[in-house]
Amino acid sequence: MTKRIPFIAGNWKMNLDHQQGIALVQKLDWTLKDAAHNYADAEVAVFPGFTSLRSIQTLIDADGLEIKLGAQDISAYDSGAYTGEVSGQALKKLAIDYVLIGHSERRQYHNETDEVVQAKVAAAFRHNLVPVICVGETLEELEAEGAAAVPVRQTLAALAGHDALGEFVIAYEPVWAIGTGQIATPEQAASVAKKIRDAIATEFSEDVANKTRILYGGSVKAANVAGFLRSPEVDGVLVGGASLDAVEFSGIARFQKHLDL
Ligand code: PGA
Repeated sequence: MTKRIPFIAGNWKMNLDHQQGIALVQKLDWTLKDAAHNYADAEVAVFPGFTSLRSIQTLIDADGLEIKLGAQDISAYDSGAYTGEVSGQALKKLAIDYVLIGHSERRQYHNETDEVVQAKVAAAFRHNLVPVICVGETLEELEAEGAAAVPVRQTLAALAGHDALGEFVIAYEPVWAIGTGQIATPEQAASVAKKIRDAIATEFSEDVANKTRILYGGSVKAANVAGFLRSPEVDGVLVGGASLDAVEFSGIARFQKHLDL
C-alpha cells in the first residue's frame, strides 16, 4: 500500500496582511527547526490570502524553507474578463503547490455549487496544482442524512467528468465543527474518511483511493490533533484558527510526539 505522508495545512482565511504573514512563516520555520521537525514525516503548508502569496513565496525561496504554499481559491477560467478572479496560471507562477477548493465558507457565502467546485478542480488540474477539495455536512444535513452522505456526494461531484485525475486531497470538514470549538470525535472523522475512500475506490480505483490523502478539519488544535491522526484513515488536518499562532500550529505539525501519550 502507498505510504501517505501526513499533511498539515493551515488555512489563514481572511486574516493577516503580508507583513504579518511573513512574520508568522518565519516563526513557524524557526519553531519547527528548533524542534528538529522532519518534513518527510509531516508535510506542512500554509494557505495565506492572495495579497500575501508573493511575499511568502519570496521568503520560502530565498531562505530555502520546506514549508509549502497554497492558495485559498482559484478561478474556474484561465484568463479573460473575470474581474476579481485569480487564474491557475498566476498561482502556478508563484510556485504554489496547493489550492483550497469548495471550502464551506465559499459554498455558503459565495454560492459555490458542486458544479463550480468541479470546474475549479478542472482548472487546478490544468495548471498542475493539487486541489484540496473541502467537503462536509451542515448540522441539518447531519440530522437528515447522517455524517457521510453529503461529504461522499460532494467528493464524487468534484471528481466527476475529468479527462484524467491529477493528484488531489480531500478535506472532510463538518460545517458544524468549523470555528465553533465543537469537534467531531476521532471515530466520526475516521468513519467518514473511510466512506469517502471507499467511494473513490468504487468510482475510480483502489490505487487512486490508496494514494489519496483525506484530512479532517474543524476546530483542530495541538491538544486534540493526535486523536484524529491515530486512525490510519485520516492523513492530516486542515486547520483554521489555530494556524494563526506559530507555536500552536507547529504543535499540530508535530502531532507524532503526542501519539505515544
Ligand atoms: P477552524 O477552521 O480550525 O477554525 O475550525 C477550519 C477550516 O475552516 O478549515
